[in-house]
Amino acid sequence: MDFEQIKNTGIGAAYKSAVIINNYLGNLTSVKKKGPIDLVTEADIASEKNIIDTIRSRFPDHEVLAEESGLNRTGDSTCQWIIDPLDGTTNFAHQISVFAVSIAFAMNNEIKVGIVLNPITGELFTAVRGQGSTLNGKAIKVSEEKNISDSLLVTGFPYDVKQMLDPVMLRFKQCVAASLGIRRLGSAALDLCFVACGRFESFWEENLKPWDTAAGWLIAEEAGALVTDFSGAPYTLDKKEILATNCHIHNEMKSTLEI
Ligand code: IPD
Ligand code: CA
Ligand code: CA
Repeated sequence: MDFEQIKNTGIGAAYKSAVIINNYLGNLTSVKKKGPIDLVTEADIASEKNIIDTIRSRFPDHEVLAEESGLNRTGDSTCQWIIDPLDGTTNFAHQISVFAVSIAFAMNNEIKVGIVLNPITGELFTAVRGQGSTLNGKAIKVSEEKNISDSLLVTGFPYDVKQMLDPVMLRFKQCVAASLGIRRLGSAALDLCFVACGRFESFWEENLKPWDTAAGWLIAEEAGALVTDFSGAPYTLDKKEILATNCHIHNEMKSTLEI
């Protein structure tokens, strides 16, 4: 398998989606709700259609798992694309420029390529397994910070947060007390990429979906991050918890998240 070709196809699709999304920014005619606080816009749908059409035209036999249209089986599930056409829809719908296109490619259930593009800043994060991660073509690495007390953390709140407020808030409180500070940006894909390039020392969240984390997970790991569940066991896309750190503060984060 030529992962460079896969990566270039994904990057091409992401840049085209960025144009589509930017054209809708501030020009939305409808914002619908998938759940009480879970939005979907015309931009999510149009971006997803573009990415799937691009993949289909080059790799018609590849399986696609995409947030808005679900799993598209082809009979051969060896090669699968995992797509979040617009990660950070709530920010996008409120014209806050923290959102991204996230595209991952997996072979035999292992993520091999990850692409995350912020259409506003133009920051493009990519990774190919075994080849490291880049931001706009330059290699990136996680932060060297060793202490949680000097670490900047980031988290997100799942769409069912109102059904689990107590544990989410208790973990948040313990992390505020232990760290330099916490941000809540609203795009899990970018949160993971920001750990990858050393802006944050750690990211944690509960109840994310495979398309939220697939690309960012590889980008973080290839930049030197450790990505597990809250108990320290290896992360997988079906897990309910994700904890990504620069490695150095992993144990401290694990114990800080214990409730
Ligand atoms: C959401 C974002 C957000 C996270 C939510 C996700 P969406 O994805 O990644 O940061 O807190 O849990 O569902 O719905 O904007 O694609
Ligand atoms: Ca998402
Ligand atoms: Ca999305």
